[in-house]
Amino acid sequence: MKAEGALRKMQKMKLCNGRKVRYTIPLPAKFIRFIKSKSIKTILELGCGYGRACFFLRKSNLCVTGVDVDREQVESALQEMKAQGISEGIDFIINDVRNLCFPDSSFDAVTMLGILTLVSKKERSKLMSEARRVLKPFGYLSIEEFGRTWENPIYRKRYKDDVKVTCELGTVTVRDEMGGILHFGHHFSRKEICHLLRGFCTISLEKDVFTSYYHRNWVNGYIILAQKRPNSAQQRH
Ligand SMILES: C[S@@+](CC[C@H](N)C(=O)[O-])C[C@H]1O[C@@H](n2cnc3c(N)ncnc32)[C@H](O)[C@@H]1O
Repeated sequence: MKAEGALRKMQKMKLCNGRKVRYTIPLPAKFIRFIKSKSIKTILELGCGYGRACFFLRKSNLCVTGVDVDREQVESALQEMKAQGISEGIDFIINDVRNLCFPDSSFDAVTMLGILTLVSKKERSKLMSEARRVLKPFGYLSIEEFGRTWENPIYRKRYKDDVKVTCELGTVTVRDEMGGILHFGHHFSRKEICHLLRGFCTISLEKDVFTSYYHRNWVNGYIILAQKRPNSAQQRH
């Protein structure tokens, strides 16, 4: 299934019955604790959905911009902004993260929560280089992503079965009740994460466990903090 088609199908499901999806990836609370002592004013969320993390970040007085390719999600975020009576310090823009509309060195920090998982293997590096481009030198990057979960028999089976369809180990299919494929989701190995972080200096790479709101199923997760080092592929793990 073509990525764009899958994404559209997923987006329709997300807003069915006007309900907002509850995401498994936690809000970036660790990142907020980390930046308390830093002089960070502006932050960009890539793939902001209906804006739950942007509203959370705004509470810490950051100037927040959220981008998402899905018009309905962005409209939902703008409606929420109006409902909360927020008139400044937060902005939502329809934009594909593979081709960001911002000039180089625009933000003090960039955050990505559960978006790399949706991007095809070929395009993950493009997304990372866009994140790096719009970050100021020494700007901070916060990522929360799904980790490979061989210990959980549900995922062990899905990795083995789904690789025939997705052609990438660790990429699972997310299906509707009829068994139709809604979209793919990748669970990262530590090696894959480290590879994506080249061009950044890793400050911390913590393993966590995320629990899905709907099924109470558990999955490994990574909570990552990194810093842009200008013209450097240096890494510290
Ligand atoms: C799992 S949701 C997470 C939403 C949000 N980060 C959060 O944690 O609340 C992933 C979001 O990424 C968006 N997305 C996927 N591919 C995208 C792309 N190429 N450009 C921009 N947004 C994208 C989807 O529309 C979706 O809203």
